[in-house]
Amino acid sequence: MKLIVKCCILLVLMINAHALPTSSGLSAGSSLDANMLDPADKPRGVGVGYDEGIPLLSVSIKSQDKTSLQRGAKMFVNYCAGCHSLQYMRYSRMGEDIGLVNYKGELDEALLTQNLMFTQADIHDAILNAMPKNDAKGWFGNTPPDLSLVARARGPAWIYTYLKSFYADESRPFGANNLLFKEVAMPNVLGPLSGKVILSPNLAPSMQALVLIENGQMTPQQFDSALVDLVTFLDYVSEPNKWERHRMGVFVLIFLGVLWILAFKLKQSYWQKIRKNPPKETDL
Ligand code: HEC
Repeated sequence: MKLIVKCCILLVLMINAHALPTSSGLSAGSSLDANMLDPADKPRGVGVGYDEGIPLLSVSIKSQDKTSLQRGAKMFVNYCAGCHSLQYMRYSRMGEDIGLVNYKGELDEALLTQNLMFTQADIHDAILNAMPKNDAKGWFGNTPPDLSLVARARGPAWIYTYLKSFYADESRPFGANNLLFKEVAMPNVLGPLSGKVILSPNLAPSMQALVLIENGQMTPQQFDSALVDLVTFLDYVSEPNKWERHRMGVFVLIFLGVLWILAFKLKQSYWQKIRKNPPKETDL
């Protein structure tokens, strides 16, 4: 009995240790994944209420929707890959996972290279970019971090809210600031799509205080849906095996269930024999 209790406690501890922030992102005092950022590149603000007290918007990601993943990947290579790398993801793996495959289920290399590869990289290379780190720091004030694990470190809701909280601010070098990440070094690269957004001076800083004053190439609904695709893609990149793991998990649980029934029946049959024919003291 004691052993079972100990095992249960161990299991709960393991599950807790593995649980990563999904909706709330980083909270005060927590730290980023060590692999994701070099200590020297650590963005300002980590550990001091990074979300600036702004409630995060909820986002329902569609991890198993291949068309959403494809749109997200396209968005990433068009708007983000110039500055951010995905160093733990290879083009070929991404292509296969997001469904760029031919009728045999094999990777369609032409589809991949024509639509998602704009560098000289080989399809088996990691998704890197040519931006020199030191120059980037000089240009932007901070190095654009690798985004391979950002969805695990911050949570999809944080990224979604972050991308929706850019607003025009002439006092900033690139004319843009962010509600969630004050004085962010990243320019508002999606500004042409979303349109011009300002922070209303009459309201306390919040999502409600962001006002669209000039339409962009997309309507607000189209922009939101494009962001959902982008966040879905970043969530996939941060854990490409997630759905495989979930699928396997179900089989493992079914297997364990069947094994339990067999073991229980076996135990019953052994004890039935023993009860019918109890061992005599002399046998022991
Ligand atoms: C022109 C370069 C540039 C482009 C393009 C760009 N970013 Fe950034 N991004 C940055 C820089 C620089 C930072 C670091 C900000 C800081 O530390 O102040 C950053 C930070 C971020 C962060 C915060 C990471 C963290 O955990 O601190 C996220 C998320 C992000 N970018 C997502 C994106 C996405 C998604 C796109 C594409 C839509 C994109 N970025 C396009 C330069 C860029």
